[in-house]
Amino acid sequence: MQIDILTLFPEMFSSPFSTGIFKRAIDRKLVRINIHNIRNYTHDKHHTVDDYTYGGGAGMILKPEPIFEAVESIKPEEIGDLTTILLTPQGRPFCQQIAQELSKYGHIILICGHYEGVDERVREHLVTDEISIGDYVLSGGELAAMVVVDAVVRLIPGVLGSEISPLDDSHATGLLEYPQYTRPAVYRGWSVPEVLLSGNHARIAKWRREQVILRTLERRPELLDKANLPPEERQLITELKERLSSSSKRGQNDYDIISQIKTKS
Ligand code: ADE
Repeated sequence: MQIDILTLFPEMFSSPFSTGIFKRAIDRKLVRINIHNIRNYTHDKHHTVDDYTYGGGAGMILKPEPIFEAVESIKPEEIGDLTTILLTPQGRPFCQQIAQELSKYGHIILICGHYEGVDERVREHLVTDEISIGDYVLSGGELAAMVVVDAVVRLIPGVLGSEISPLDDSHATGLLEYPQYTRPAVYRGWSVPEVLLSGNHARIAKWRREQVILRTLERRPELLDKANLPPEERQLITELKERLSSSSKRGQNDYDIISQIKTKS
């Protein structure tokens, strides 16, 4: 995969991409990341990248010419395999499903917006997608681009190594991941759940699946409504919810009730 990032602050990308999984992926030539300084595509002596907004209003916006020229300087090998994305709080909300979708492209161009935004013609005639990493406003698209690149690169086959499967990640299945423990088996008196030490793989698998459902119910119940689950798990959720609602009528809060259910299972 080739990733081209257009930014006014190229130095922001030097450290994240030179460590950890990025470095490994780059060294193994699984991904090539090029950083382009938008300012290099200006033609005036002051290297102007922003200007006042027509019609009046506070703040400056990014001019279209340097952004168009920077994108046009990148020669895609195959147009069909390319997506050109603007990072903006107005974009579609980023999630694991979009990360998976993007990981199928051979070439991604990411444009980091700045100041009060970008000239609308960039949206209308240059980009093919717009992504937001959350309902808050960052001072620029750089951190958002890093988030997107991180989530996408780890899905490229071979990047995580065969021992780790991104298919088990929280959200990969549409639900949250089960709790995990490592040695020691007892730490400060807190024990690892007995089932995990049992060596009984069927019991462990069942326990983990129940934990996935409980944890999602506890923290992100709306994910369960969207998930594709077999009828017996739907039935389990209905029962858990009934237990929750009858217990809450008795004045207990959801968190206490879920801890009780977890202890029992
Ligand atoms: N630029 C500024 N805020 C942003 C956000 N929330 N997501 C993506 N790009 C941004």
